[in-house]
Amino acid sequence: MDAVKIVEDVYWVGAIDWNIRDFHGYSTHRGTTYNAYLILGEKNILIDTVKKGFFDEMISRIQNVIEPRDIDYIFSLHVEMDHSGSLPEIMEVADKAKVVATERCQKGLSLHYHECKKEFVTVKNGDTLKFGDKTFTFVEIPMLHWPDNTMTYMHERKILFSSDGFGQHLATSQRFNDEVPEDIVMYEARKYYANILLRYADIATRRINEILKMNLDIRVIAPAHGVIWHRDPTKIVEYYLKWSSGDTVKKALVVYDTMWGSTAKMALAIADGIMSRGVEVKVFNLRATDRSDVMTEVLDARAIIVGSPTLNNNMFPTVADFLTYMKGFRPKNKIGAAFGSYGWSGEAPKQILEELKAMKFDVVESPLRVQYVPSREELESCYKFGKEIGKKIVEAG
Ligand code: FEO
Repeated sequence: MDAVKIVEDVYWVGAIDWNIRDFHGYSTHRGTTYNAYLILGEKNILIDTVKKGFFDEMISRIQNVIEPRDIDYIFSLHVEMDHSGSLPEIMEVADKAKVVATERCQKGLSLHYHECKKEFVTVKNGDTLKFGDKTFTFVEIPMLHWPDNTMTYMHERKILFSSDGFGQHLATSQRFNDEVPEDIVMYEARKYYANILLRYADIATRRINEILKMNLDIRVIAPAHGVIWHRDPTKIVEYYLKWSSGDTVKKALVVYDTMWGSTAKMALAIADGIMSRGVEVKVFNLRATDRSDVMTEVLDARAIIVGSPTLNNNMFPTVADFLTYMKGFRPKNKIGAAFGSYGWSGEAPKQILEELKAMKFDVVESPLRVQYVPSREELESCYKFGKEIGKKIVEAG
């Protein structure tokens, strides 16, 4: 298989996972890539590896350029197994290579690959080091996405190898951002941010600003997943700062599940009421849309209205799943409301409201409930409920 030249001396030697559709609970409708990079010079350097099972693809791309045993260093920028999974196999082939990693990363690798023989070279945050004729500055980016993530900037070619930062789960035959329709790349970058990095938005802002203060001349950003940003690479940096700010737009999500269609009827009437205020609305039945696709929309939505029927004194499992998932990301600056139909006990809307309060949403205090099937008058109440929420959304803008 071919290596893909990025700039002089730098090649993409990763793997394309065309068929993955579930990346630890994240729906990867367009697959993904595991990006590894090979740098040639007085010392040959491999940046990261690929997920276990994709080693053969990576090694054949490396062999397209050099003999793998001629690799001198392997930079391990992230322990997670989609990037380190082939480390034991490459260490067998590149048997003189040393693993360059931070202390956090070394600890994580040791806890994953107990039997793998590896000699470490330790790097620290802010270090600028020469490896042969190439110079690298290392920047730790803890919690983007694990404690060990590290970026490294190669001065000679002005490339930032950004680990999980600025990635997208996107399998394509193209390697560069300007070779794929921009709306697709940006949608997948946004989904990746919302579902991988949003929880640590404050840290993301801090780290990105630290990197910007270093005044590095970044011409290319090479992430661990998806396409490489070589046209207008700072644009994705600006998007990250925007997404991290928690700014919202005049948009509401109505997210629900339904047993016999009553909560669905309520959802549509509420959505109509919100729309009557000129607010953009998106409606999601959680059995039709994966939670990670809803989460992508949560990123800039100003209001999240959640509905559930009551099942055995509880909210519906799909709704509990979504709320647990969303809570983990700690979304900021949201308005919340709850609704649902019920047969006899009707606890679900109140339970939802408590969850939204725990997420520090600005909630509409009284959840809206309807027994069994909503009448015309009750649907009118749903519409008014939506209209009130719409007013709140507009006033918060
Ligand atoms: Fe792509 Fe956190 O690994």
